[in-house]
Amino acid sequence: MQSKLQKLKTSALSEIKSAKNKTRLEEVEVKYLGRKNGELTGLLKGLKELGGDERKTVGQIANEVKGEIENALAQKKKELAQSEIGGLLEKERVDISQPALPKKERGHFHPNTIVQNELEDLFTSMGFMVLDGPELESDYYNFTAINIPETHPARDMQDTFYINGHPNQVMRTHTSSVQVRAMQKYGAPLRMIVPGKCFRNEATDVRHEHTFYQLEGVAVDKGINFSHMKGALETVCKSMFGSETRVRLRPKFYPFVEPGVNGEVTCFLCKSQGCRLCKNTGWLEVFGAGMIHPNVLKEGGVDPKVYSGFAFGFGLTRLVMLKYGIEDIRLLESGDLKFLEQF
Ligand code: FA5
Repeated sequence: MQSKLQKLKTSALSEIKSAKNKTRLEEVEVKYLGRKNGELTGLLKGLKELGGDERKTVGQIANEVKGEIENALAQKKKELAQSEIGGLLEKERVDISQPALPKKERGHFHPNTIVQNELEDLFTSMGFMVLDGPELESDYYNFTAINIPETHPARDMQDTFYINGHPNQVMRTHTSSVQVRAMQKYGAPLRMIVPGKCFRNEATDVRHEHTFYQLEGVAVDKGINFSHMKGALETVCKSMFGSETRVRLRPKFYPFVEPGVNGEVTCFLCKSQGCRLCKNTGWLEVFGAGMIHPNVLKEGGVDPKVYSGFAFGFGLTRLVMLKYGIEDIRLLESGDLKFLEQF
């Protein structure tokens, strides 16, 4: 009986020691001290079969074994609880001595894109769809289709980049190249804008770049007239430059519109008083526009006897310059981070 008790003690203490968690420890406790089937409980029950002295001695040893097992269980419970708290604390530990991670550079929109997005939102709210067109464009869509035939002197107004190996193509000089493409594809009625890159062989200066952005617009429907055009363009200018802005239209020749106008807005910087920005005129030129020439409608497959329309072309890059007070257009395509990081 005594050797059984010693064996039971050894195995109980070793199982307690190796228990990895609370559940396992509870199992060990039940296995040895459980009221119904605990191994030690069983042995204690057998005591009554022993004779007087032996029962006393074995009883004493059994109680000592029980006490040791209970102590070992209590001690292990404590250890497990502490390591659990320790584990949680370890998980939440912040090493304040660790050096800071290098600041991650986050990209952001180019100012051209910011203004383009604003205008796209505005025009789509007025029912215009946003279209795209090729930058390497056919001579036909860039010039001929919009009433600028091969020998017409108006071609000289937009000195062009021609590409080796592409005899009848040019880097588009304006987004007006998409006017006839859009009419041929969607017919009438039509309301669309085309924001995009244009290219001209310019002697560059603070207001002229070889690569710049325009935003073209076309509205074709029955009964469209000049006041629709003025209303739409005024809405755009007021939204860009403030509700007090006034718009002035002055005659200008473009072969693809008749009549054609040059659109100016009151200078938002000096409130029309005259300043460096508006060259003391009080007005800033921001777009070209006009009623679409019947030849252009015909080329687009639209009957000019039934439909009429207006077209306009904003110098998107100029709008960006005006909005942010940028004095040299060449900064915008320079890729200079010192400049770009300001936006
Ligand atoms: C045109 O390009 C016409 N296609 C606009 C148009 C569309 C008229 C529809 C009528 C109907 P223009 O060459 O004036 O027109 O250019 C329009 C705008 O583009 C100018 O007001 C100017 O803001 C901008 N722009 C023209 N050339 C440059 C350049 N080299 N650098 C930066 N912006 C330019």
